[in-house]
Amino acid sequence: MAEHWANFDLHLDVNLEGARLGRSLEDALRAAIRDGRLPPGTRLPASRALAADLGIARNTVADAFGQLVAEGWLSARTGAGTWVTGSPGAPDAPDAAVRAAESGGGTGSAPHTAPGPRRGLGYNLRPGVPDLSAFPRREWLAATRRALASSPDHLLAYPDPRGVPPLRQALAGYLARTRGVSTDPERIVVCSGFVHGLALLAQVLGARGARAVAVESHGLPEHRAVLSRVGLRLAPMRADAQGAVPGGAPLGEAGAALLTPAHQFPLGMTLAPARRRMFAEWAAGTGAMLIEDDYDGEFRYDRHPVGAMQALAPDHVVYGGTASKALAPGLRLGWLAVPGRLLEEVVTAAVLTGGGPDAVNQLALAELITSGGYDRQIRHARLAYRGRRDRLVAALSQAAPLARVTGIAAGLHAVVELPPGRRETDAIASAERHGVAVLGLGEFDAGAGAGQRPPALVVGYATPPPHAYTTAIARLAAALAEE
Ligand SMILES: Cc1ncc(COP(=O)(O)O)c(C=O)c1O
Repeated sequence: MAEHWANFDLHLDVNLEGARLGRSLEDALRAAIRDGRLPPGTRLPASRALAADLGIARNTVADAFGQLVAEGWLSARTGAGTWVTGSPGAPDAPDAAVRAAESGGGTGSAPHTAPGPRRGLGYNLRPGVPDLSAFPRREWLAATRRALASSPDHLLAYPDPRGVPPLRQALAGYLARTRGVSTDPERIVVCSGFVHGLALLAQVLGARGARAVAVESHGLPEHRAVLSRVGLRLAPMRADAQGAVPGGAPLGEAGAALLTPAHQFPLGMTLAPARRRMFAEWAAGTGAMLIEDDYDGEFRYDRHPVGAMQALAPDHVVYGGTASKALAPGLRLGWLAVPGRLLEEVVTAAVLTGGGPDAVNQLALAELITSGGYDRQIRHARLAYRGRRDRLVAALSQAAPLARVTGIAAGLHAVVELPPGRRETDAIASAERHGVAVLGLGEFDAGAGAGQRPPALVVGYATPPPHAYTTAIARLAAALAEE
């Protein structure tokens, strides 16, 4: 039976009908302390107040408190009250949670979230997370302040499932200007990161009766999981130096293809123009959906970024982008530019999953984009990451010349092929001995034999804060130099 405290609300399962009322109250309090609803330090209501609230005798409450004091769950001082001390003998909760996450995370069962390195591994060179120390806190605060000061109240109501209009407006302009995307604000759908956008598309595909999705030979395991979770079969495509190879069995029965055209994740090549056209023609000819994951398209260092594939076939390509690389993945801000013919279905999926990110952050991002702050941030980050990539290449060529950095100069990660004879597991273990967390290319292999590649590490060079970067890559180079 649910009851509430006199001076703060707390759900307590006390069986007020049972004969053993005191025992039931003790159990309910232990449960509330154990699962964190009553954290250590919480002051409990006076026994008189709690008794009145529960409609039971004050002595029953006082006895239950006394029992829990004796067991070490509570402590009490006459005249001062009764406090929660914690679960006797249990580790404190936050630490236990961290340990569970770390042991489960291992070398990154969810590389997308680039969990922190295990204890003792001070240098995180897993791919996925930008330099969070470079997050433009002041600019974000200022943008939030301006957005809140200037937005009408109605923007704080239930938002349009596509996202707040100022952000859709800002994104349509930004994407056209920087990535050549052909869209308009009506066809932008703001989502909680690209992965949420992909989940919406997976639902649309499922509802349309698609059976399979062609995926690249390598990619994020969790993107594949999003697709297979709704019953879509994954059909991995081979890749060569020109990117994913269209045609053949994988495309044969696929209702969609998921691609990273600007910078294949994680292999690092660009999808060649002829290949882009072939995919676009396939989609136009079969009615299939092309999903363009443009996760790091702004970060190209050797030349001007290649524009989005979407411009080739705006009626067939769903373009997806994210603020996870330019700002921070914790914001959970991403976007889709959706072909008109799919819009209603995508919006329905968005409504059914409860909508996208909160309106205030959407308004802040709109403000950051329109004020030029987002471009500035990207220009800074581009310069910094370009320098980091150059330093990685230099450190490896000096200390471990048999390791080879492959892929175009772009993005926030590089593929480092191992010296001949080294296995990925050995190189990862050796990096760990040097205090460095990295992932092997095998983590990203979509299977089905499409991804035969030389053993390699996927090195995310953006994550360490600037002061730790030199040591991080020196240690990695030392690990790769070992026999
Ligand atoms: C291939 C790829 N796509 C997309 C993303 C961005 O995902 P999200 O926007 O869900 O953070 C990442 C980030 O790690 C990525 O590696």
